[in-house]
Amino acid sequence: MKPGLSLMKHYLQFKDLRAEEYAYLFERARIIKTRFKNYEKYQPLTDRTLAMIFEKASTRTRVSFEAGMYQMGGSVVHLTTGDSQLGRAEPVEDSARVISRMVDLVMIRTYEQSMIERFAAHSRVPVINGLTNEYHPCQILADVFTFIEHRGDIKGRVVAWVGDGNNMANTWLQAAEILGFTVHVSTPGGYEVDPALAGVRDRGCYKVFDHPMQACEGAHLVTTDVWTSMGYEAENEERRKAFVDWCVDEEMMAVARPDALFMHCLPAHRGEEVTAGVIDGPQSVVWDEAENRMHVQKALMEYLLLGRIG
Ligand code: CP
Ligand code: NVA
Repeated sequence: MKPGLSLMKHYLQFKDLRAEEYAYLFERARIIKTRFKNYEKYQPLTDRTLAMIFEKASTRTRVSFEAGMYQMGGSVVHLTTGDSQLGRAEPVEDSARVISRMVDLVMIRTYEQSMIERFAAHSRVPVINGLTNEYHPCQILADVFTFIEHRGDIKGRVVAWVGDGNNMANTWLQAAEILGFTVHVSTPGGYEVDPALAGVRDRGCYKVFDHPMQACEGAHLVTTDVWTSMGYEAENEERRKAFVDWCVDEEMMAVARPDALFMHCLPAHRGEEVTAGVIDGPQSVVWDEAENRMHVQKALMEYLLLGRIG
């Protein structure tokens, strides 16, 4: 990407793209996935480099971005806090100026959203949020794509969120506002979603329920996440107590629609936020969901670097 190109886009939150851009990305992801399944080479990013900065652990995000970039003909540089100057207090702004002179795209997983915003403000190349304390847009991109693959358009549907009002919940709310569905949210007291932090203007895109069973009633999709997200480990014990009734089990799935799907961004803790029977059961699409991270992110990287194809 040439410096100063006015078309440059970052993907720091789900709301950074519009509904029609999502429609385009889902169609590109479908095409890219089909080619991959047919062993057709597709290398539009030859000679492009992605830098991946991880300040938190990852399995899916790392493998999906790294494998996806190589499959598209590009290459990857992997940095962590511990093995770069980021961990030795080099300013984020200086790191952004330097790294973005050498690569074409940057993916960052970190703590505060403000870190990737500062990085993006000083980057010559697009920056992608690979998870922050506040948001996880690439995951919801994959989740919505997975829903569409299994059940068609998500517009007008009901997604039940059972658990922490965390980065995943915030991003589901943004997606609901942009794509026109409703999130039924049930969290323990003290762990509610904050619409201002989630960044939604339309309170109509979600409804809050005290009991998780109520949130699941009539839902097209039931989804949850770990009780303790990365960075909050000190709260582990108090969260274990607070979240004990927020375990997605067979009873909750039974009050959802008969064809309801179950999703979880993973990693999962069977017996905590979900029973083994649900996550390993017939309504669960968690493995498709995980695989789809790679296909949607390939479409996203293609879009950020090359714009619309054709
Ligand atoms: N779902 C997700 O982002 O997984 P990782 O933490 O393994 O990247
Ligand atoms: N909410 C979880 C998601 C992990 C992919 C976390 O932030 O740790």
